[in-house]
Amino acid sequence: MFTRLAFPVGILFILICCQDASSRFTDCGGWLEKDKGVIHTPNFPARFPTPIKCDWVIHNPDPEKKIITYFTQYFLKNSFHLSEYDEYKNEHDYKGIQYLGEINYENEYTSLATYKPYLVIRFKVHEIGKMHLRVEEFLKDVYGFNITYEIVDNRQDIRETCSAHDCSFLGHCVASSNYENYRCECFPKFFGEYCQYGPFCDPDKGKNMCENNGKCR
Ligand SMILES: *[C@@H]1O[C@H](CO)[C@@H](O)[C@H](O)[C@H]1NC(C)=O
Repeated sequence: MFTRLAFPVGILFILICCQDASSRFTDCGGWLEKDKGVIHTPNFPARFPTPIKCDWVIHNPDPEKKIITYFTQYFLKNSFHLSEYDEYKNEHDYKGIQYLGEINYENEYTSLATYKPYLVIRFKVHEIGKMHLRVEEFLKDVYGFNITYEIVDNRQDIRETCSAHDCSFLGHCVASSNYENYRCECFPKFFGEYCQYGPFCDPDKGKNMCENNGKCR
């Protein structure tokens, strides 16, 4: 019995594994059933491997609840797509799709609420190219994202959170351990609620690099 089965399974495996060897994708993503969690690119905030394709499926079986995604640490210009579904088994087997669009850090999104039972986040990149963001010239580059989601009662308000924009791109926006509060954690030498102050811009020392009465932020 075993050998009879193993043969066709072996062939199937070869067909799947070597079909498209020239553009093999790194495995990541996953199926998320918990009521809150973090979703991040491999190695965040360091570079993720390419080519890469990840699908995260957030499942909310309760019609009285919604999924809220908070774009806390989000540093992509493209390649991040959101869709919601009535039913979802895999990328070829689903029902009732609604495409929600591509998220770009320039949109300044901080959160998104969805009401269907499945939210699928697709991240697909062949080459890193110019899609990532240089956060601060002399500090570091940040690649990809590290965001949070929550499944909550339909009546609950969206929380006040932050994003890379709010933290002036000089810090990371992170959730408290219970995901109820969010704040900016500034890079070394930067400070202020929004990391808006630093070596060139320090109200205590009367420093302001902005000319013509501009405000530093
Ligand atoms: C990812 O996000 C979570 C929640 O905001 C935070 O606690 C964690 O420190 C972040 N990880 C990194 C590597 O920034």
